Amino acid sequence: MAAEAAVAGMAEAAEARTRRPLVIGIAGGSGSGKTSISDAVVERIGTKNVTKITHDSYYRDLGEASFEERKKTNFDHPSALETELLVKHLRDLRAGRSVEMPVYDFTTHSRRKDETVTISPTPVIIVDGILIFSEEELRDLFDIKIFVDTDADIRFIRRLRRDTLERGRSSEEVAKQYLTTVRPMHIQFVEPTKRYADIIIPEGGYDSHVAMDMLIAHMNMSISSNAGDGTVASPATRSLANGS
Ligand code: C5P
Repeated sequence: MAAEAAVAGMAEAAEARTRRPLVIGIAGGSGSGKTSISDAVVERIGTKNVTKITHDSYYRDLGEASFEERKKTNFDHPSALETELLVKHLRDLRAGRSVEMPVYDFTTHSRRKDETVTISPTPVIIVDGILIFSEEELRDLFDIKIFVDTDADIRFIRRLRRDTLERGRSSEEVAKQYLTTVRPMHIQFVEPTKRYADIIIPEGGYDSHVAMDMLIAHMNMSISSNAGDGTVASPATRSLANGS
């Protein structure tokens, strides 16, 4: 049956990846709800099995540039991010080595000097970011690629709220940045990467349970085949295992 073949295929893929983390990429425009999806995954899998990394932590430091200069940067172009460092870190984590993730400050547009967060390998690693599928070297490191597909008006409203409340921006600044860089870069670099996704989750899709159950079932299989412990029972795992 199709369901049994799908489960067998998932088990084979999990076996082929013995003893290395399952790396999941969650892409989507700014304000699309990537964090909600990754939080829902963490809740279902359990924190001891999951590490979350965001591409945002890898924004380049703009050195000695003044605050006014830094503000004018196009932060939605792939060149604004030190993707090569994230690639190195993911390779290290996949090989079982801990890494020092940079810390980025959105209020000053700069990296916090001499401050890092130690990330240790776990059975599941979730990476999110608007541009994580735009470069092949990074894209190839994901075992599962998810794209969160949310309408532009919803994304803008969320961004306006977040950037004024948490990132020290005025509403005028948010609107200007959206029109000059965020929107055009989204159309040029973010939206086209939807084609690389294994799963496209529509806005609020994590509430429907269907995509989430499939995802959790796949992850549980990977976790149990890699480590032999730490599985989390989900409705989908149970019903697939029962053949129902
Ligand atoms: O969390 P989110 O996916 O929205 O983060 C990506 C966004 O952060 C980008 O759209 C970029 O415009 C914004 N950003 C910013 N200021 C920075 C760095 C990134 O507004 N210093």
